[in-house]
Amino acid sequence: MIFDEEINQTIRYMKPSGIRKFFDIAATKKGVVSLGVGEPDFVTPWHIREAAIHAIERGRTFYTGNKGLSKLREAICDYYKRRFNIDYDPEENCIVTVGGSEAIDIVLRTVLQQGDEVILPTPAYVAYAAIIEMAGGKVVELELEEKDQFKLKPEVLQKYITDKTKAIILNFPGNPTGGIMTREDYAKIVPILKEHRIFAITDEIYAELTYEGKHVSLAEFEEIKDRVIVINGFSKAYSMTGYRIGYILAHKDLIDMILKIHQYTIMCASTPCQFAGIEAAFNGDPDIEEMYNSFKQRRNYIVKELNRIGLKTHVPEGAFYVFPSIKVTGLSSEEFCEKLLDEENLALVPGNAFGDAGEGYVRISYAYSLDEIKKAIEKLEHFLSVHIG
Ligand SMILES: Cc1ncc(COP(=O)(O)O)c(C=O)c1O
Repeated sequence: MIFDEEINQTIRYMKPSGIRKFFDIAATKKGVVSLGVGEPDFVTPWHIREAAIHAIERGRTFYTGNKGLSKLREAICDYYKRRFNIDYDPEENCIVTVGGSEAIDIVLRTVLQQGDEVILPTPAYVAYAAIIEMAGGKVVELELEEKDQFKLKPEVLQKYITDKTKAIILNFPGNPTGGIMTREDYAKIVPILKEHRIFAITDEIYAELTYEGKHVSLAEFEEIKDRVIVINGFSKAYSMTGYRIGYILAHKDLIDMILKIHQYTIMCASTPCQFAGIEAAFNGDPDIEEMYNSFKQRRNYIVKELNRIGLKTHVPEGAFYVFPSIKVTGLSSEEFCEKLLDEENLALVPGNAFGDAGEGYVRISYAYSLDEIKKAIEKLEHFLSVHIG
C-alpha cells in the first residue's frame, strides 16, 4: 500500500472483519452452502414495501429533518411503550439513523474521549471493537462463558471496572451467542453501573427474537435510565436489512450531542425508507410474530441436530444464531471453518472472529430455509465422521 505512513494509523492496523474475510474466500468457490450471514431470509412484508413505494410515488424524496420524520419517531416511541413499556419522547429522546450500525458509531463517538475504556462482553458483534478504537477508546474485553449461558455476571463485571471505564456495550439477545438477560439478571448489574456512572449502550436489535420469556430492555431501570443509550432498528425484526433504518433512544442531553455528528455526517436517513419504518413500527406486530415462530422452529431443529451429530450446543434464548463448541475436533475455529469450506463446501463463521472468547466455537446462522439447514447438517455430520474419527 503506497499510503501506509500517511493515512490514519488506527485504520491502517485495524484488522478487516473476520466474517467478511471468510466470505470473500467462500465467494470464489462454486456450490457453497452458507449458514454464515446474519440477515433474515424473508422478503420484507408487502405492506411495508408498499409504504416505501408510495412515498416515492408521491414524491416524498427530499431530506427530512435531521432527527428523522416526526411521525417515525412517534411510531418508534409508541412501539417501545407498547412492546417494552418504556417511555420516550419522540421530540426529545429519539434520532433515526442509517441502521443500528450508524447508531453504534455516533453514540461511541459522542461519549468517548481519547483513552476512555469501554467494557465489551465477548464474543461480540464484530463492529463494536473496531468502532471503539476508531473513536479513540480502548476495548476492554470481558469474556462471557457458555457455562453462564453467555450472560453478564455482576462478579465478573466488577473485575473489569477501572477509573477509566466510560461505557459498556450490552447486546442481549446477543450476536453471536444468542444469550439473553432476564430482569433478574439485569437487576444484579444495575447497581454496579449506577455506582460507577457508566454509560450503558444497549444494542437491542434482536429484541423481538427472544424465545424464552419476553425481552427486557435495560432502559426499564429508572435509576440508571439517564445513562442508558438504546440502539435498535428495523433490520432484523421486520426483515428490512437493506432499508438501513435504525434509531437511538436516550436522554435529551445526549441526543442533542449525538445529533451534532449525525447532522454533519449523514444529514438524515433515507426518506422513502423512513416511510417504510412508520408502517413497520405501527402495523408490523403480526409480521414479527410470524417470523418469530419460524425462527423458533428452526432454532429447535438445529440445536437438536447439532447435539445429535456430536457438536455440543447450548440452547440460545434469542437472536438467530447458534454457537456450538467445536472443541471435540481438536481444531481451532479457523482451521475448522477452512477445512469445512474446503472439504464440504459449507461456510460458517469462526468463533474467534467475535473476539478471543469465541475460540473453540463457530457461529451458525439459522436465518436460512430448513432445507438449507438440513443440507448443512448432513455436511457437518460427514465432516465430523472424518475429523473426530
Ligand atoms: C448486534 C448487531 N447490532 C447491529 C447490527 C447492525 O444492524 P443494522 O445496521 O442493519 O441495523 C447487527 C447486524 O448484524 C448486529 O448483529
